[in-house]
Amino acid sequence: MKKYLLFIGILTLVSCSKSTEKDLNKMDVFVSELMQKMTLEEKIGQLNLITPGSDIPTGSVVSTDVESKIKNGQVGGMFGVIGPEKIREAQALAVNESRLKIPLLFGSDVIHGHKTTFPIPLGLASSWDTELIKKSAQIAADEATSDGLNWVFSPMVDISRDPRWGRVAEGSGEDAYLGSQIAKAMVTGYQGDDLSKNNTVMASVKHFALYGGSEAGRDYNTVDMSKLRMYNEYLPPYKAAVDAGVGSVMSSFNEIDGVPATGNKWLLTDLLRGEWGFDGLVVSDYTSVNEMIAHGMGDLQTVSALSLKAGLDMDMVGEGFLTTLKKSLDEGKITEADINLACRRILEAKYKLGLFDDPFRYIDEKRAEQNILTVENRDFARKAATHSFVLLKNNKQTLPLISSKKIALVGPLANNKNNMLGTWAVSGNPQLSIPVLEGIKNVMGADVKVRYAKGANITDDAALAKRANVFGERVDIDARSPEVLIAEAVLLAKNSDVVVAVVGEASEMSGEAASRSDIGLPQSQKNLLAALKKTGKPIVLVIMSGRPLTLEWENENADAILQVWFAGIEAGNAIADVLYGKYNPSGKLPMTFPRNVGQIPIYYNHKNTGRPFDANNKFTTKYLDVSNEPLYPFGYGLSYTTFDYKISQSAEVMDAKNSITFTAEISNTGNFDGEEVAQLYIHQKVGAITRPVKELKGFKKVLMKKGKTATVDFTLTVDDLKYYHPDLSFTYDPGEFEFFIGTSSNQDFTGRFIVK
Ligand code: NOJ
Repeated sequence: MKKYLLFIGILTLVSCSKSTEKDLNKMDVFVSELMQKMTLEEKIGQLNLITPGSDIPTGSVVSTDVESKIKNGQVGGMFGVIGPEKIREAQALAVNESRLKIPLLFGSDVIHGHKTTFPIPLGLASSWDTELIKKSAQIAADEATSDGLNWVFSPMVDISRDPRWGRVAEGSGEDAYLGSQIAKAMVTGYQGDDLSKNNTVMASVKHFALYGGSEAGRDYNTVDMSKLRMYNEYLPPYKAAVDAGVGSVMSSFNEIDGVPATGNKWLLTDLLRGEWGFDGLVVSDYTSVNEMIAHGMGDLQTVSALSLKAGLDMDMVGEGFLTTLKKSLDEGKITEADINLACRRILEAKYKLGLFDDPFRYIDEKRAEQNILTVENRDFARKAATHSFVLLKNNKQTLPLISSKKIALVGPLANNKNNMLGTWAVSGNPQLSIPVLEGIKNVMGADVKVRYAKGANITDDAALAKRANVFGERVDIDARSPEVLIAEAVLLAKNSDVVVAVVGEASEMSGEAASRSDIGLPQSQKNLLAALKKTGKPIVLVIMSGRPLTLEWENENADAILQVWFAGIEAGNAIADVLYGKYNPSGKLPMTFPRNVGQIPIYYNHKNTGRPFDANNKFTTKYLDVSNEPLYPFGYGLSYTTFDYKISQSAEVMDAKNSITFTAEISNTGNFDGEEVAQLYIHQKVGAITRPVKELKGFKKVLMKKGKTATVDFTLTVDDLKYYHPDLSFTYDPGEFEFFIGTSSNQDFTGRFIVK
């Protein structure tokens, strides 16, 4: 360490992310002095992010000659290297054996927890609890840094209105307001208030930008949208992350206005740095520089130069920067200043992380032993999971289950460790997860009246199974025939009081490169449910999925439905907690559930059109064969108890000086204590441009004991009514607005106010 400090030759190396002017000056001086010593090759080397692929390959290409590249100063950072020993080894190579001893960044896809896996992000978003989400990021940061990491490729904040897109699992759903609150919570959770602390990490908001708008929900597909839609509906969560001080931004695979994001100067420089004032580093997605060749933007040299010029700093895996930038410089296609700028941003990130002060600050085998997978972290994972479940249906109080009743626990996901964690749990170990059968026994005791039958394979389709099994066996096709599996489950159901069927997708049927055109339950499971229905027993469905599924038949035929997404390491315990009423579900949907795929894209904050739906008028906006209404709307989610709302407002008129406070008195009128997410929606009746039929403007989660009342209020000012106008000015319009505070988005407006 001493040798290292001497070498750098800087008197004081206190680094800090709280950017006081003095700190910034110090950083500037430090980085400038260091850059003066760097050769062109070393500067280009800093722009290179590699993955050795030995631990966690997350793409199809991996880097080669890793060791010699590090020694030669040709690497700025690594990802996919897990564990303090390996990270220490790689960092030691950089700081002991490269000429300038510049430390490396170590990144990873820490998406919903590190080793203690939390629910998938769409599940966490269903909690509508930003404190809980922030804490999940803090714990993830603590575990990841204990393991030697200093950079996480999260949060993913891509708005999407298309559940065919598998990556909706990784985000917060369809709404810009909810998405922005969550983006902020995650960034502050990961980064804390001081990046240089050994338990905070640099976050990377992704995928910038608009990746969730891919046509037909097919991953990596074209995106094309108006500037108004971008600014008002898709960009706000990225901006919220930037405003929260996110240290890095990852560019997306898709094109925007015909230019791939990775080489899009308007996006990476004019908008991100110019309009939004971002001063951190921009990293490409996995080989997204090289992929611009297939996009039709030119050869590797051309697309690499284009990306650098556009404002990209770091090239993930593809090595287009490493292999072509010097040539482009020699040919005058880029300048040394372009390279310097990118290099500076990477060195600044390292400085803010405190790596120049101590390159090993995040690598601490003791912390790794003590801080990872602790009882407390697992307890929190269980809590987060219970809060992420959404009760979609509960006829005649089928749930919670009564312990004296005999339960037939069936379904391919009922006793299945391999699928509990969900997609993008790169450091999670499925074998440490709790399946539902085990969870029920843990919660209710070994004598609980539960018997299990698999009933069906997740899918009988061998080709689909193969695709879902790329990261290990998620779908195992049973040696017994589907008929035998069903018969066994039916017999069990007949001898039980209630059927609990745990059904859904395999975890890798959502996530990256996991789009589906049919988002129903696989046929094997539909057959099982149809057979169970014939027994006449009450049916509870526990649905695991990484996306909204189409569940019309299930909604008609099941007595209760609990949507549990992929709940993480404590899945089974958390599901048992909720099934048996130890926790009363409080989750709300962050994404609309369509009735069928033909309704997609479907989202609550759509426009009215000139011919709003009217059942009695043929020439209005509708389908001939399905209603316009979703199966379950955004914001929807039941509780074991019931809530009554009384709404009031502090004034009828708002202006630039006077706000309005909207208040709901919420009474718990049922028989259980419960939490409710009160949601404020508004509608601007006339605008400078057409306005959405509804817009979420606030939400608060409150706990009420049965019989008790709580008061929540939301204060809006004219700033909350601003939106981007056709000239992209961010202003509000005077006029009439409607509002309601309620339990879901599909309620009628109850009040109005005027804005002057
Ligand atoms: C590609 C994915 O799009 C991105 O989300 C991820 O962070 C990188 N691969 C690295 O694994």
